[in-house]
Amino acid sequence: MKKLTSLSIAFIVGIGTIIIINSCATTANIAAKTGTQLWGENCIRCHNAPPSSDYSPAQWETIGMHMKLRANLTDDETNKIVAFLKSSN
Ligand code: HEC
Repeated sequence: MKKLTSLSIAFIVGIGTIIIINSCATTANIAAKTGTQLWGENCIRCHNAPPSSDYSPAQWETIGMHMKLRANLTDDETNKIVAFLKSSN
């Protein structure tokens, strides 16, 4: 019985480690995404993504702050998307 318990604990710890490693891998994948990718994945969720030429670079800064809240994006994701929209303006 005691052996079974320590085996169970080892099993749970093992599964836990795999989950933690996998969730870090997901975070690393998101961090590696470009502004173009993030824009394509996020900005079409609620409406058609307006082309970068529709707004000036200064307007994209403001829209970025606005849509960061709407889309629940991180600072890093928002900065990448805004940089992409400004660069292809
Ligand atoms: C969760 C839904 C949602 C997502 C995701 C989203 N938007 Fe919006 N967006 C809205 C809504 C709703 C409006 C209408 C204005 C308002 O009520 O806030 C809007 C309006 C806009 C406008 C009009 C100008 C303005 O600021 O109101 C632009 C441009 C825009 N979005 C760009 C984007 C970009 C770029 C992204 C990706 C970073 C994005 N949106 C992601 C919901 C979203």
